[in-house]
Amino acid sequence: MHSQIQEAHAQAIQNAGAIIRRGGLVAFPTETVYGLGANALDGLAVARIFETKGRPAFNPLISHFTALDQIAAHGYIDDRVRLLDAHFWPGPLTLIIPRLKTCGISELVTSGLDTIAVRIPAHKVAQGLIMAAGVPLAAPSANKSGSVSPTAPAHVAESLGTGVDLILASGACSVGLESTILDISESEPVILRPGAITAEDIAAVLGREVGYNIAANSEAPKSPGQLLKHYAPSIAIRLRAIDILPGEALLGFGSLKFMSVRGKGSVNELPEHSLRNLSESGDLHQAAANLFLMMRELDIASHSGIAVMDIPETGLGIAINDRLRRAAHA
Ligand code: TXA
Ligand code: MG
Repeated sequence: MHSQIQEAHAQAIQNAGAIIRRGGLVAFPTETVYGLGANALDGLAVARIFETKGRPAFNPLISHFTALDQIAAHGYIDDRVRLLDAHFWPGPLTLIIPRLKTCGISELVTSGLDTIAVRIPAHKVAQGLIMAAGVPLAAPSANKSGSVSPTAPAHVAESLGTGVDLILASGACSVGLESTILDISESEPVILRPGAITAEDIAAVLGREVGYNIAANSEAPKSPGQLLKHYAPSIAIRLRAIDILPGEALLGFGSLKFMSVRGKGSVNELPEHSLRNLSESGDLHQAAANLFLMMRELDIASHSGIAVMDIPETGLGIAINDRLRRAAHA
C-alpha cells in the first residue's frame, strides 16, 4: 500500500485533523468523489491545493462543513437555504450563496468573488475529519488538473503521489459523481453543475422551476457571456511595473528597494492604503494567499490604477499571473 494511504479509523482521522490544523493537505472520501482538503481559513494551506493539483489558473473551491450554523458565520442563509438543508444535507449538493463581510474563509477559496460555495457532505469520514480539524475544509476533487475525479483511494495516490500529506482510505465513493452545484445567490436558482440531486428534486422542494447554466461552470464555455463570473478590479491594472506613476497604487512582490514613484522618490512614502506586498520574501505560496485580498484593498477610486511588480512564471506564479492578466484585460 502507498505510504500515505491510511485506513480511516478513529485515530487516523484525529491525526488527519491535526495535519489540517498545521496547514497540511489530506485527501478524504466523500459520498461523491475523494476531496483534497485544506483548512479553508488558511490561505497558505489553500495555495498548496492549487500547487498540488498543478492548476494553471485559480478557480473557486467548495468549503465543506458539518452543520448549517457553521456556514452561517461565513455565508448568508435565507429561507431557501434552510429548506434545501432540511431536504438534502448532508448530501451531494453544493450551494452558491452570498459571502458575508465577516466571512473568515480565505479569499483564495472564493477567488475574490462575493459568493461562496458550501456543502455538508454525508460521508461519515468526511464529517469526522471536519470535526477533528475544527475548521471548514476547502476541497476540490483529489486529482491532478485535467484528469478525472478519483472515486477510490488508489486513484488519489496515482494522481497526486507525494503531493498530499495523508490519504484517508474508505473504499469506493457511493455516488461517484461530483455534487450538484446550485447557485441561489440571486433570486433565480440556477444549476451550474448537474449531479445526483436533480433540477426536478430541487424544484419540488423550492416550489418553483430550476434552470441550468452549465456553461457557466465549464472551462471552455460556449458563449463568453456565460463564463463563471470572475473578480475584476474596477481600476486599471498595469503588469510588470518597474516603477509606479503618481496616483497609482503598488502591488509589490519581493524587495521594494528599487521601486520608486516616477519623478518623486521612494515608494516608502506612499500612504498605507496605496501599498501592499504579496510577499516580501518572494514566496509564491504567500503571494497566492494574499492575491485577491490585496487586489481588493488597493481597488479604490482614489487610485488611478494598480501597478503590479513582475512575478515569476513558475509554480504557483503561473496561476497568479493568469489571474493578473485577466484583471489587466478586464
Ligand atoms: O462533489 C464535489 O463537489 C467534490 C467533493 C470533494 O466535495 N468537490 C468538487 O470540487 O468537485 P471542485 O473544486 O472540483 O469543483 C468546484 C466547482 C468548480 O467548478 C467551481 O467553478 C465551482 O465549484 N464554484 C466554486 N465556488 C463558486 C462560486 N462562488 N460561484 C460559482 N461556482 C463556484
Ligand atoms: Mg474537479
